[in-house]
Amino acid sequence: AIDIRQLRKETGCITFDPGYGNTGACKSAITYMDGEKGILRYRGIPIEQLAEKSTFVETAYLLIVGRLPTSEELTRTSVMLNDFSLVHENMKAFYQNYPPQAHPMGILAAMVNAMRSFYPELTDLDEEMNNTFLRLISKIRTMAAMSYKFSIGQRVTYPQPGLCYCANFLNMMFDNDVVPYHVDQDLVRALNVFWILHADHEQNCSTTAVRVVGSGRVNIYSAISAGISALWGPLHGGANQAVIQMLEKIHKDGMTIDQCIAKARDREDPFRLMGFGHRVYKTYDPRGKIMKKMCDIVLAKVKRDDPLLDIALRLEEAALEDSYFKDKHLYPNVDFYAGIVLRALGIPTNMFTVMFAIGRLPGWIAQWKEDMADPEMKISRPRQIYTGNTVNDYIPIDQRR
Ligand code: ACO
Repeated sequence: AIDIRQLRKETGCITFDPGYGNTGACKSAITYMDGEKGILRYRGIPIEQLAEKSTFVETAYLLIVGRLPTSEELTRTSVMLNDFSLVHENMKAFYQNYPPQAHPMGILAAMVNAMRSFYPELTDLDEEMNNTFLRLISKIRTMAAMSYKFSIGQRVTYPQPGLCYCANFLNMMFDNDVVPYHVDQDLVRALNVFWILHADHEQNCSTTAVRVVGSGRVNIYSAISAGISALWGPLHGGANQAVIQMLEKIHKDGMTIDQCIAKARDREDPFRLMGFGHRVYKTYDPRGKIMKKMCDIVLAKVKRDDPLLDIALRLEEAALEDSYFKDKHLYPNVDFYAGIVLRALGIPTNMFTVMFAIGRLPGWIAQWKEDMADPEMKISRPRQIYTGNTVNDYIPIDQRR
């Protein structure tokens, strides 16, 4: 790697790298990716092992602290997550004032930003796993479920101390006065895996937003809120919702797979095959492989056939054989099958990206923490290649046309 600061001092040159595809913006010991070989590891542990053996809470601990917890540490973490799970009653009033069709990602970003005002004590941030991090991880789940309950006009289901992190979320989402929710351990496991797969992905768009906003030394809640906003976009976390909408449209309009591939190839058509392609992976996304297997497991469990899975499988098969996709190294990413898993869990489509945000939170926290502790880090402040006029005279308003 070239030390660009030294180069700038010596030559006056600055780099031009739109989208920062070739810029190392920080040093990080959290997540390792090899985009050519399709490798993803958190703190050195392969994603496949974590998806098979770990839980979301344990993986969150691993990312944030840098090592797996002992059994006492894991118990304490779970106890604290339960203790922090309630949301300040005054924050509930916010939900009532949103229009019913408000997107839950916008609500979530606002709620997390508001936490700075409701939980201002931020004195413990030097501890490796502290109450601020745990408060965030616990409350984001409650806030997400609350926004769903408000949107469908149901009473809020409060968190239950006897349930684990993932079971609690499902219960808060789906338990109601008419039909009590039965927590199914296989679906709880599926949700654990779903969130483990999303927990970190080095310097992606939302994590970069967290680091960039955090670099101004704003409070952690506001930095995470910026990450949630960045994640909302359809080229990033919003892709899981966009994939399902695309598959639904193909299903409804009776479009053939060939027509769909042709549309994606057409340079005049803005249509892209959502859930395909990745800035770093030039092969199959390892998370996508695990997610694909999860579709079968979860659909078998809920005893449902999903016609969208069949369309997705046929689309994947056709795209992998197609020269356009081959030449550009476009493979399914994590989002391609994620929506099918979420639908099977009963999650409504407009909550898909919220599910991603809950999963990504430990990664954002870990990256923010690493940034704050890095003596080399500076406020993020890129330069530009100026393309405007060099100098213009001011024209009085009565002489302008
Ligand atoms: N369908 C059709 N063509 C595509 C697709 C796609 N899904 N993805 C990329 N391409 C084409 C582009 O048109 C471009 O063609 P060109 O070289 O002829 O101009 C080429 O492949 C490279 O694409 P870029 O957009 O330049 O690649 P970049 O690394 O900037 O973007 C991205 C990556 C945003 C993920 C892109 O592949 C995409 O838009 N995919 C669909 C959205 C999606 O699934 N996003 C989720 C990503 S994973 C995540 O965030 C969790």
